[in-house]
Amino acid sequence: MNRRVILALDVKTGEEAFSLLAPFEAHKPFVKVGMELFYAEGPDIVRRLQDAGYPVFLDLKLHDIPHTVEQAMRRLSTLGVAMTNVHASGGKAMMQAAREGFGDGTLIAVTQLTSTSEEVMQKELLIERPLPDVVDAYAALAQEAGLDGVVCSPLESPRVHEKLGDSFLTVTPGIRFADGPTHDQKRVTTPAKARELQSSMIVIGRAVTAADDPVSAYERAVREFEEGV
Ligand code: C5P
Repeated sequence: MNRRVILALDVKTGEEAFSLLAPFEAHKPFVKVGMELFYAEGPDIVRRLQDAGYPVFLDLKLHDIPHTVEQAMRRLSTLGVAMTNVHASGGKAMMQAAREGFGDGTLIAVTQLTSTSEEVMQKELLIERPLPDVVDAYAALAQEAGLDGVVCSPLESPRVHEKLGDSFLTVTPGIRFADGPTHDQKRVTTPAKARELQSSMIVIGRAVTAADDPVSAYERAVREFEEGV
């Protein structure tokens, strides 16, 4: 399996994105473009990043009726992004429609947002089952719908791989170095631990971007996660 570190571009403008990436010119990291940057700059930011040699995970978490998601995915597929995603809670038909629209590219599903606690899920969303069961069921549904993997916590990766196989991707945020700050993330995992827990890809933001030396921090994440040293 091709383990990859993905750098989260949590910035407001294309200018900020490119100035953040300037020191990484030699590395050309896999980058994550989320809603904030995409809604500010539009599809052009994806084209500009890809033209500059950065593979893009477009993290837009689509969730709508199947027809709308299929048509939206057709538009996104023309951008040629390396990976994009939907919410599994849109259901199997919506995920199948997403696959139909997006074509063969890497398509993954969010199971439950890590900001949704079991209490919120049960009391507000009226999903009465335990959270790990819901994550398992949504991941299995994503696989049945023909998706390539899920976004989940590194702590959930072993269960997902055990049930759905090694090649079903687990893309995991919440990554911090053992000796660094945790910021607002509640449950964090080091890149080395994420590797041990069989994460397929880690999404890392502030542990790199807010470090004194972001390039060294990125290189450390690659060493720990991709190379296991
Ligand atoms: O700075 P930090 O490493 O916490 O950033 C993590 C990135 O992963 C952010 O873009 C955040 O929105 C995203 N993310 C997350 N937890 C999830 C899903 C996405 O932290 N469950």
